[in-house]
Parts: sequence; structure tokens; C-alpha cells
Amino acid sequence: MAEKQPIGVIGAGWVGLVTAACFAKLGHPVVVREIVEEKVESLNRGELPIHEPGLPELIERNRERLTFTTEIGELLDGARLMFVCVQTPPTYSGDADLSAVHRAVEEIGEPDGRALVMKSTVPVGTGRTIRRDAPGLAYVSCPEFLREGTAVEDFTDPDRVVIGIDPGDEWAAEEVTAVYEPLGAPIVRTDLSSAEMIKLASNAYLATKISFINEIANVCDEVGADVTEVARGMGMDPRIGPKFLNAGLGFGGSCFPKDTQALKMLAGNIGYHFQLLNSVIEVNELQKRRVMSKLTKHLDSLVGKRVALLGLAFKPDTDDMREASSLVLSSRLEGEGAKVVAFDPVAGRAAAELLPSVDMAESALDALDGADAAVLVTEWPEFGELDWANVAKRMANPLLVDGRNFLDPQPVRAAGITYEAIGRPSIPDRSAVG
Ligand code: UGA
Repeated sequence: MAEKQPIGVIGAGWVGLVTAACFAKLGHPVVVREIVEEKVESLNRGELPIHEPGLPELIERNRERLTFTTEIGELLDGARLMFVCVQTPPTYSGDADLSAVHRAVEEIGEPDGRALVMKSTVPVGTGRTIRRDAPGLAYVSCPEFLREGTAVEDFTDPDRVVIGIDPGDEWAAEEVTAVYEPLGAPIVRTDLSSAEMIKLASNAYLATKISFINEIANVCDEVGADVTEVARGMGMDPRIGPKFLNAGLGFGGSCFPKDTQALKMLAGNIGYHFQLLNSVIEVNELQKRRVMSKLTKHLDSLVGKRVALLGLAFKPDTDDMREASSLVLSSRLEGEGAKVVAFDPVAGRAAAELLPSVDMAESALDALDGADAAVLVTEWPEFGELDWANVAKRMANPLLVDGRNFLDPQPVRAAGITYEAIGRPSIPDRSAVG
């Protein structure tokens, strides 16, 4: 493969590592600069700090084009485009913490003919402020839309690539466009602030869709409708679409909770009350607790009860525990006096640090042994393959709340387990089936 222009990546987190590995696959030599020394050491030993399907293989296959270093100088040596992929976590005020972004800008300085390509999610206006403060540096907003768990696929086959610049930085936009061209995706070329807003608005819209279907599910619970059927019927309307209509325990992860909050704060800081987004956030908070009433419907009190959580990560195919619904749920359960035991196929270790009072089981069946109730929190495929007759035998009280509407209720109920879900009738209305 002919070598292409060198690329710099700042930050070896989820976005940084996927970006680096995918650009290396496209033939670019990539220098990844990460400030945490242990992370660089483990990457150089070939160990990945995150669980992301397909990423270890991709890094391994393109190893000769990837350099991991703590030295910013190594990156500045060759690369004209520097992709910033650092974290922008929320501050106490709910605004995005841009300290890692500002540190990167400061360290880079204003060397000639270089461009900063912002992949981190930042508030609208950040690009223009950086351009004002570092006028010698070109600036491109190129937000990332990849999802954890399918990040490599999302990066290499994106729905669109957004490239935002303000006048004067056209050369940088051309270079970024050229880097993405082999992916064959539509390019949305726009101004800086609009590019930043596309990212925040996309995540806020998806979060709104989830909170909407969760509220529909809560009403379904009261009126005896099945939200999975409702979503199926709604999703066939191309104006609505079938995706992101899975009701459950609410959204978590490092993006939706943070980005909805950041957009709400961004609006609030300029005097606009983003009413809809406030509700989206509030619905999501309450949704994580919905399971409690489903448990107490069957168990009068949770004091001394053993409750098994199946899955802890904020979604399957990741070990990410950030803003996972399991965190709120386990502490609510403990608050009501329950003993919580949990199993997650990959997030167990990360979760153990965050949930020291929760017993981490070695398998789903171990967690279910002697449990008075179980809650499916993360839809890992292996939970769909459990032998329900065996589960029913092992549980002290066969009660299962499917917090993701993941399981087929029929075999679970046939095994004698009381099955509850989110927005699905507790007892199937046989007369309606036909
Ligand atoms: C999300 C966006 O989907 C990406 O496009 C974006 O790039 C990323 O945030 C980001 O800003 O970096 P991610 O957080 O990896 O990606 O996960 P999603 O698959 O979007 O799921 C987020 C949460 O919503 C999960 O907790 C999931 O369980 C929940 N969800 C998702 C539902 O409850 N129902 C659904 O129908 C879909």
C-alpha cells in the first residue's frame, strides 16, 4: 500500500484508538500521543486498555504504521493534521470540561501549516474561541459519530462525515476531505459552529427518541399494550424509522448523558430554557429506577432479598461502565435493603471497583443461584441462551425483570418464571394473539 500523509492523534481513548487504527488501515502512518504513560506502555506491549470488537486485530495488522508515544514532539515532527480525541467530561456545573482540549492546543502551539481537527465533542463556539486564541493554527471541526461496540464498523462505513471550517482554513478542510475520501461517505461541508451543533443535536435527538419510547412504554404498562409491538408499528413509517426505539432502563454511556447535559447547559448559559431536553434527561433518570416497582409488585419488601443483575456495562459489547443504569439500580436496590449479586461477561472488573458492595459472580448461573429476583440490565447475547428451566430451579424465587425487553417471554414463562419487562403486559393477553 502506498504510504499516505502522516496523521497525528491526540488521546488514546475510544475515539483516538479507533481513529488511529482506521487511518493506519487506510495507509497513513499515525502517531498517537497519550499523556498517561502506563497506557502508552501497555499499547506498546500490544495490550488494549478498552474492550472494542475488531480493534485489537486492526491494531495488530497495521502495527508498523502506528506509533504510541507520550511525546508531543514526535507527532509534530511529521503530521500536518492533528486529530484531537481527548475526553470532555462534564464539570460540576454540567458544562463540558475542556481542560484536556486546551492543554492539547497549548502544547501544540502554532507551528506553520498545521491544522487541529477536533473529534472530541465540544460546546458550540469552542472552535471559534480556539481560532481566536491560536490564529496561526488552522481548525477543522470533524465530529465523530461512532458507537462503542461497533466503533470500527461505524468509522469505516460512516453515514456521513461532517467537516466544518470558517473562512481561511479551506486548505485544511481539503486535506481532511482527502483523508476521508476512500470511505466513500457523503461529506457535509459546513461552518464551524454548525458542525459542532450537528454533533450535539444528533446525540440529543437520539436520546430524545429513547426517552420518548420509554415514556410510551410506561404508558403501555398502565394500559396493557406491548411497547415492542408499538415500536414495530411506528418504525415502519420512514419518517420515524425502527432504530433507537428500544424501551428499557434508559440510556447510559459516556456520550448521551454528558452531551444532553452539555447542550442543555449551553442553551441555559445564553438564557434559553431547553424544555424538551430537560424532560429527556429527567425521564432517563426516572427510567433507571422503574424496575424497583416491578420488583416490589411481587416481593413485598426487598430487605434481605438477594437480587441478581445480569449485565452491568451501559450496553453490550463494551466494558464501559460510565453512566451505566446498573450503577443507579444497584445502589437503589441496596438502599431498599437488598443484597445485590451481579455478572457481566466483560465489565466485571471495571464494575467491581465502582460497586465494592456488590458480589461479582463468575457466571450468569452463579449470580442467579438462590436469587429472590433477577434483573436483566444489559442485553448480552449469552443471556438469551440461558436454560430457563435450570434458571427456575436455581433461583430461590423465579422472578425476572427484563430491563431491556430482550428476551422472548414465552420460554421464560414456560419454565415457570414470573417475567416482567418494560412496557409489555405482565400476563400475555392470549385473545389478542392471532
Ligand atoms: C452514541 C451515539 O450513538 C454515537 O453516534 C455517538 O458517536 C456516541 O454516542 C458519541 O457521542 O461518542 P454510544 O454511547 O456508544 O454512541 O452508544 P449507543 O449505542 O448510542 O447507546 C447509548 C445508550 O442508549 C445505551 O445505554 C443503550 O442501551 C441506550 N439505548 C439505545 C436504548 O436504551 N434504546 C435504544 O433504542 C438505543
